[in-house]
Amino acid sequence: MKRIGVFTSGGDAPGMNAAVRAVVRTALYHGIEVYGIMRGYSGMIKGEIVKLDSTSVANIVQRGGTILKSARSQRFQTKEGRQEAFDQLVNHRIEGLVAIGGNGTFTGAELFEREFGIPTVGAPGTIDNDLYGTDYTIGYDTAVNTALDAIDKIRDTADSHDRAFFVEVMGRDSGYIAIPCAIGGGAEIVLVPEQVQSIDTVIETLQVARKRQKSSFLIIVAEGDEEGNATAVATKVKEAIPEMDARVTVIGHIQRGGAPSAADRLLASQIGIAAVEGLLNGMRNVMAGIVDRKLVYTPFQECISRKKMINQGFMRMVEILSV
Ligand code: F6P
Repeated sequence: MKRIGVFTSGGDAPGMNAAVRAVVRTALYHGIEVYGIMRGYSGMIKGEIVKLDSTSVANIVQRGGTILKSARSQRFQTKEGRQEAFDQLVNHRIEGLVAIGGNGTFTGAELFEREFGIPTVGAPGTIDNDLYGTDYTIGYDTAVNTALDAIDKIRDTADSHDRAFFVEVMGRDSGYIAIPCAIGGGAEIVLVPEQVQSIDTVIETLQVARKRQKSSFLIIVAEGDEEGNATAVATKVKEAIPEMDARVTVIGHIQRGGAPSAADRLLASQIGIAAVEGLLNGMRNVMAGIVDRKLVYTPFQECISRKKMINQGFMRMVEILSV
């Protein structure tokens, strides 16, 4: 393999730049040419492909976002789109790919390899931490710290006004961001998609706490929760406890930006190197991840089809610590 491509795709995540830098420098270290594909699969289809050298990735290890930009491509979901992408890679004589992204990115890469035989190794880049095959994804640690910082501020005003705040965090269908925010932010309740908790239970928990003279409350709601988003949950609770002064805060895309944490920079650098070296060692259709502090390569098929379970012990911690 003499020439590889690298791209970022799906929702951006802090640390993607550190991963791109690691991929580029590892390729150069091994005497391989490396091309940056702009805007994920969308740029691959359009041939937005630029040669990268060591200085192209200078001073980016500390920057949020992604210098390669990111997108979610509808066209790549069609056979014609994938054929166009393949033609572009052939034109640029790109023989292997490093895909930095999440579930959707690897679903596309797996199909692409089956149809056109382009070897791809993935690097898990998403704030959601919802990928099987790695304990942590690039961007997750930063996103949790960003959300927690916001939650601490909300706690101040909740306490001053004796209010309940329903705080919505990201995570798509996963509660991975919500759980550490609830533990670290001292929340009374956490609602996550992986574990159904009825509104009646939420109401009862709040009423019991109110009887104990608790006057301010934090309820962390993962955006994908079964009972609905934070606004929907707050509305139902207010119907049952009208005397409770409640507010809703949706933390939103702030969670996707900002300088990556030390943990994310380290993870991104480690995985970026592993992705390129995996590719050069003949690996294909796998994601590089860290499980129990060890580097592992997991087939895309498993990463996208298997559900990463939440830690039930953490859910119990929220219950115990909110007494
Ligand atoms: O996958 C990352 C993520 O931020 C999810 O947590 C969220 O559901 C989604 O992307 C938001 O997507 P968009 O940026 O397209 O609104």
